[in-house]
Amino acid sequence: MPTSRALFSRNFKKTFPIAARGEGCWIVDQDGRRFLDAAGQAAVVSIGHGVAEIGRAMAEQSAQVAFAHTSQFHTAPAEKLAARLLALAPENFRNGGLVYFTSGGSEATETAIKLVRQYHLEAGQPHRYRIASRKQSYHGSTLGAMTASGNVARRAPYAPLIQEWGHIAPCFCYHCPFDKTFPQCGVACADDLETFLQQEPETVAGFIFEPVVGATLGAAVPPEGYVVRIAEICRSHNILLIADEVMTGMGRTGKPFAVQHWGIEPDIILVGKGVASGYAPLGAVLVSARVVAAFKRGSGAFMHGFTYQAHPVCTAAGNAVLDYLESHKLFERAGEAGRNLREALAPLQEHRHVGDIRGLGLLHGLEFVKDKATREPFPRESGIAEKIRQAAVAEGVLTYPTQGCVDGQRGDHILLAPPFIISKEECSLIAGALETALAKVFPV
Ligand SMILES: Cc1ncc(COP(=O)(O)O)c(C=O)c1O
Repeated sequence: MPTSRALFSRNFKKTFPIAARGEGCWIVDQDGRRFLDAAGQAAVVSIGHGVAEIGRAMAEQSAQVAFAHTSQFHTAPAEKLAARLLALAPENFRNGGLVYFTSGGSEATETAIKLVRQYHLEAGQPHRYRIASRKQSYHGSTLGAMTASGNVARRAPYAPLIQEWGHIAPCFCYHCPFDKTFPQCGVACADDLETFLQQEPETVAGFIFEPVVGATLGAAVPPEGYVVRIAEICRSHNILLIADEVMTGMGRTGKPFAVQHWGIEPDIILVGKGVASGYAPLGAVLVSARVVAAFKRGSGAFMHGFTYQAHPVCTAAGNAVLDYLESHKLFERAGEAGRNLREALAPLQEHRHVGDIRGLGLLHGLEFVKDKATREPFPRESGIAEKIRQAAVAEGVLTYPTQGCVDGQRGDHILLAPPFIISKEECSLIAGALETALAKVFPV
């Protein structure tokens, strides 16, 4: 029975329960069924569901001034949140960096693409326009963001509409595209950017990457040396480096921004999801001082805009979420909770079809393989990730399944990204549900 008559569903072949209430790490549907939100929906919810003070802060802002167009006004909550995000960012965002707020991650990517293009116009390099990226990456669903993305399945239907700006090899040790092993590989996947830029020296304007690849590769963490080498290559070719931290930012990996694990200074950082923990549609583009300076020296105006950018009520939600993260010490807690989750999941690694458990902080992925010795994936038609998701839902646990991590078609994983408040007991519930799901999907 369809559950919705008017809403354009994501999948007409599925039925969706009606979410009625959120409480901590749990979502309760209208029939009273409780679901443990092990994926934070889609790595969105950081502070947990149902925190009433966030709604109160939004209502207060709405009563003061609900909307003011950025062509005419700035507002206090937007200014305040911008300053707070810059204070959390790497050093090159202080003293002159600025923040551009959007309504989500895809708009943040679009904004960054245009910002990088205009930066090069301001700097007298009009031939630079391409944003290079990696195969097996995801930067959003709008057409510019899709052009930069390397997620085969999500791009496929729109191929005639999107250009080819160039995709280098992914950084994915479990299925190394060069069939090498770290550290003997010498991070050849980073040098693939150097090779690409030597072939395309004039037209590339920037490089966008997810420091930890979320949706497409299931929390693939780069080996030591990779991120630093990528930053060096971008700098030496005078192209801008965009860290897409829509999924990894705002504490998800145990630091405010994932790039801080490797001490690099990207030119632009994108955030979304966790920046308002799902309480409001909000994204942000953090622009470093050097990029801002080029605009100030040049035309002085960015040829871009959204009606709802820097929305007062959404940025009020962002401030209230950040207050909550700070007052409950949740940035620190994500690391500890991540270790608890990893510990709870560890026994699953023994299962004959669990190939890899990977991740950082509270962003983890489990990859299922047909053959552990060869790491051979299941055929796509087996739909293993979706079957695991369904079996886990039957146990009351929500996960985020994806296919295609190996080659865009094959490869099954689920992503786990619970709220930072997840308890040890809840981590055990997740592991228990997955154990049952594995037993159902792979009976002996
Ligand atoms: C790394 C990354 N970038 C961009 C996006 C797009 O964000 P949104 O869905 O808010 O438009 C996502 C969404 O999953 C993402 O994971």
